[in-house]
Amino acid sequence: MDLKEEIKKRRTFAIISHPDAGKTTLTEKLLLFGGAIQTAGAVRSNKIRKTTTSDFMEIEKQRGISVSTSVMAFDFNGIRVNILDTPGHKDFAEDTFRTLSAVDSVILVVDSVKGVEEQTRKLMEVCRMRHTPVMIFINKMDRDGLHPYDILDELEKELNIAVCPYTWPIGSGKHFRGVYNLFKGDIEIFAPDKSTVSEKLLSTKDIKDPRLIEFVGEDNIKKLWEDIDLVHNMFESFNMSLYREGYLAPLFFGSALNNFGVLELLETFLEIAPCPGPLNAIQREVQPEEEQLTGFVFKIHANLDPNHRDRIAFLRICSGRFERNKFYYHTRLSKKIRFSSPASFMANAKSIVDEAFPGDVVGLYDSGNFKIGDTLTEGESLYFKGVPSFSPEILREVINLDPMKTKQLEKGVWQMTDEGVAQLFMQQPGNRKIIGTVGELQYEVIRFRLEHEYGAKCSFSNLPYVKACWLTTDNSAELEAFIRRKPGAIAYDKENNPVFFAESEWMLKLARENFPSIKFHETSDFKLRT
Ligand code: G4P
Repeated sequence: MDLKEEIKKRRTFAIISHPDAGKTTLTEKLLLFGGAIQTAGAVRSNKIRKTTTSDFMEIEKQRGISVSTSVMAFDFNGIRVNILDTPGHKDFAEDTFRTLSAVDSVILVVDSVKGVEEQTRKLMEVCRMRHTPVMIFINKMDRDGLHPYDILDELEKELNIAVCPYTWPIGSGKHFRGVYNLFKGDIEIFAPDKSTVSEKLLSTKDIKDPRLIEFVGEDNIKKLWEDIDLVHNMFESFNMSLYREGYLAPLFFGSALNNFGVLELLETFLEIAPCPGPLNAIQREVQPEEEQLTGFVFKIHANLDPNHRDRIAFLRICSGRFERNKFYYHTRLSKKIRFSSPASFMANAKSIVDEAFPGDVVGLYDSGNFKIGDTLTEGESLYFKGVPSFSPEILREVINLDPMKTKQLEKGVWQMTDEGVAQLFMQQPGNRKIIGTVGELQYEVIRFRLEHEYGAKCSFSNLPYVKACWLTTDNSAELEAFIRRKPGAIAYDKENNPVFFAESEWMLKLARENFPSIKFHETSDFKLRT
């Protein structure tokens, strides 16, 4: 098959949601309907959501499992589907945001009872920023939740995106029986099933089909007739280009747990979701059909086995054909590297791949060559946009509790921050190490891993800062003056870029006003422009 054909048959996406909305359940059901697994529960996602911060083993266990669920690929109706997993826990939001740079579309899961939640808002903001096409799945329709019209209203208002219902619920709460496909004009009724693909009880294109009453009840069917008229009059019809540009989100109702609305979602996804398209590098736009390989690392995962310090770097292929054992150019290190055992991830099994194509994700065993955002090419110097580190919101100093293990501590902190777990800043005098994160849980993970993987012991001491911003300027005198004025609040990142720690948003605003020629960057994207 030629490259263009391979690209056309790929769909790479992420399922995102506020924790508990049903992301894991839906992922499993898509794998189930896609034939990748036989029973739900076979693949567990990397959920750290129910873990208390003191439950280290649980964190470890789940961290390990998440390697195998970082990418889940399966073939369905001739299409290669790549699902990229995103952590549900908010403390790992940064990982999720970076994963969004490696997908071509997303499915957003919303809980019908809770409606739009904090993470739903944040994730949608990132999607809108990137113009990522979004499909929305309103889950848990089997519970007494918001009325469908209210949900639509809330989504449009709170998420700032036009929505168009693609399916419509038949009944709700304990009377929820399935969905009507507004676009195909048909109904498929499934027996509810929590663990396997359910039996199809009825499939009809006639909403007056008398057999429907038997399966969904007279009241439900009458309500559906009324709703269909209203919905067709009230809402935008589906428009492919608005969806592809990220302005219009087709909406699906269902219950992932009971298998309702899942097949409709999967089938429509395969019809309308985009295949890999052009991606923006700093230097130029990269087309997937280009013969030469390009790809970037969006995630790095430490090996679970502490005796093997190697890690897996996840590379999203952007163009060309990736081949095993071929030399590729690592643009940041200006060196050629080849990979003898690149891994692909089919459902929950990992295997060595000989080749991969745009949209695919390969796992590269790495002994320390990669950082998040690194690019592989066939010789060109390229950096892809949008794989940034974000300004951390919690900053803590690392206190070494075992001076005999200083080297191990340094190494561990350095390697873990390369993985994107957290960010490291150094402050003089005394070479103080400050770790910045977007969530509390990260500190527990770091402390635990330092002890178990590196044999080093540390604690963290709180610092009174709420944000770290990278500083750049054309006016070096002003930057020097600023650094002199605020020595305690200045540190340096791993590449020796100066960073300002702000005690409050107000202090940051003041600094911006008083030092107008200094730029205070809240993501690390600026590094690519220099
Ligand atoms: P997440 O990955 O977004 O965090 O959510 P997850 O799928 O784990 O679902 C969160 C809870 O919601 C789970 O219950 C799950 O069974 C339930 N759930 C998911 N889809 C539906 C649905 O369509 N209807 C109903 N009623 N519940 C649903 P749990 O009790 O927290 O976990 P578990 O013991 O069932 O695994």
